[in-house]
Parts: sequence; C-alpha cells; structure tokens
Amino acid sequence: MTEQKLITLITGASGGIGEYLAYQFAAQGEDLLLVARSEDKLQKLSAKIEARYKVKVAIFTLDLSAQNACDRLDKYVNDNGFSVKHLVNNAGFGLNGSMAKLDSDEQLNMIDLNVRALADLSLRYLADVTKNAGGIMNVASTISFMAAPYMGVYGATKAFVLSFTEALAQENVNKNIKISAICPGPTKTGFGVRSHIDRSDLFDYVPTMSAEEVAKIAFQGYMRGQVIVVTGISNKPLPYLVRLTPRWMLRKIASRLMSTER
Ligand SMILES: NC(=O)c1ccc[n+]([C@@H]2O[C@H](COP(=O)([O-])OP(=O)(O)OC[C@H]3O[C@@H](n4cnc5c(N)ncnc54)[C@H](OP(=O)(O)O)[C@@H]3O)[C@@H](O)[C@H]2O)c1
Repeated sequence: MTEQKLITLITGASGGIGEYLAYQFAAQGEDLLLVARSEDKLQKLSAKIEARYKVKVAIFTLDLSAQNACDRLDKYVNDNGFSVKHLVNNAGFGLNGSMAKLDSDEQLNMIDLNVRALADLSLRYLADVTKNAGGIMNVASTISFMAAPYMGVYGATKAFVLSFTEALAQENVNKNIKISAICPGPTKTGFGVRSHIDRSDLFDYVPTMSAEEVAKIAFQGYMRGQVIVVTGISNKPLPYLVRLTPRWMLRKIASRLMSTER
C-alpha cells in the first residue's frame, strides 16, 4: 500500500487571513494544499512558502461555492494520495446592505460558500483528521454572537459556523483532535472592499487588526485546543457583553455600526 501524504488543506488561502494561516502551518513543517479561485495568487504564494519553509505546497484553483466543488476537491486529494491532517475552512465573504436591496443570488451564493462548503468539507474530512491526529479550524466572526442588520445573511452564516463548530468540538471532545471556531473582529483584508463594510462606521469605531495578527492568534488558540478563539484584546469581552445586553439593544447597535443606508 502506498503511503498517504499528510496535508493541511486551507481554503481561501490566496490572500488575507488565509494567506497568513498558510505561513503559520508551514512554519510548523506542515505540507499544504491551498485552495481559492485566483490561480496566479496561489502560484506566487506556493513558490514563496516553498522557498521560505521546508514544506511542499500544492494548489487547487476552485470556486468552492459552485455545485460539486467539494467533490472535485476531494477527487484531487485522493488522486494525489493526500490525507487531510488539518482542515482550515477560511474561505468566505460578506455583503453589506439591506437584504431587500442586495442581489438574492449573491446572498444565496454566500450561504453556498460560508455554510455549505464549510460543512461539507468538515463532515467529509472528520474521519481523516481524526486518524491523523490533526483537526479542523473554521473561521467564524465576532458577528457570530449576534444578529447583523445590514449584513444579515453574512451574520447568519457566521452564527452557523460558530454553532456547528462548537457542537462538532463537543461531539469529539474525547478524541485526540483540535476543533476551533475562530472569531476575528474587523481585519484589514480584501473582505472590507468586497463586502463594502469598509464604507460603514464599523471599521472606524471598532479597532481593526492585521491578517497576520489574526492568523497568529488563531493558530496559537487552535494548537492549544481552544474551541472558541476570539482574536484581539478589544474583541475578547464581546461574547460576555453580548450576554448581558438585551437583544433589542444589540440589534440597534449592530444596525448603527453596519448600515450605510442612512
Ligand atoms: N476581514 C474581516 O474583517 C473578517 C472579520 C471576521 C471574519 N472574517 C472571515 O475571515 C475569512 C477570511 O476572510 P479575509 O478577511 O481574509 O478576506 P479576503 O482577503 O477577502 O480573503 C478571502 C479568501 O477567500 C477566497 N474566496 C472567496 N470566495 C471564494 C470562493 N467562492 N471559492 C474559493 N475561495 C474563495 C478568496 O480567494 P479568491 O478570491 O482567490 O477566490 C480569499 O483567498 C472569511 O471567512 C471571513 O468571513 C473576516
């Protein structure tokens, strides 16, 4: 029987937080499989990582929101004799605006990527990461803890990620694997531009972090076996404050911070 090659599979690795997570895993000597839609960016990143660290980096260009995308990725994994040790579900995007005004197809596409692909890959590779004593890191958000008016569908997808990941972690608590939901606050990446949230008050009033800082904290928390990793000192109190605040008030505050439709 040919030996399987253990890999860390990172989605959304062509930039932002995913790129810096790739450096973190590579620095630990983990071989990588990087997935995103931008082939040129993935090629440049894989060459950079292979030159800097003693690891092998494979890339697979894929729109994870497309039908059967996870089947295609799985075929690539199997055809290459890979076995997933760490799965990092990081690919995701948001949209700022009222649900009535945003394009319905784009909002549903967000669910396909942020929810469906993440759940599919988690369920698909749970047995492999368990066999390989690795784990699953799912990137949620600080918005996972509350409703997000003017980022309504995005907030709901991230609430799913947190709930799903916590449940998965608890179901596997006695196994030798790590399962973490990462909850970054506003982070300077391509996310703000694609979602248009950079036009709202959120990025002015809430301190932003760099993708590098977020990835470092995420990786350390994951390695420690932390189930929920809220990144950054200023974001840390949020889950506790949310529990103490009436939901009607939370909705108002979130709406004030995220609306650009005044
Ligand atoms: N930035 C923030 O303020 C913030 C806060 C909380 C949580 N997050 C979460 O952090 C994660 C990473 O986001 P980021 O801030 O690093 O944003 P980013 O810079 O826009 O990176 C997103 C990554 O996802 C990939 N991606 C997007 N759509 C894809 C698709 N359909 N199929 C495959 N890959 C796709 C992008 O690559 P391609 O374009 O090449 O496909 C890119 O590599 C997301 O899940 C996001 O929701 C971000």
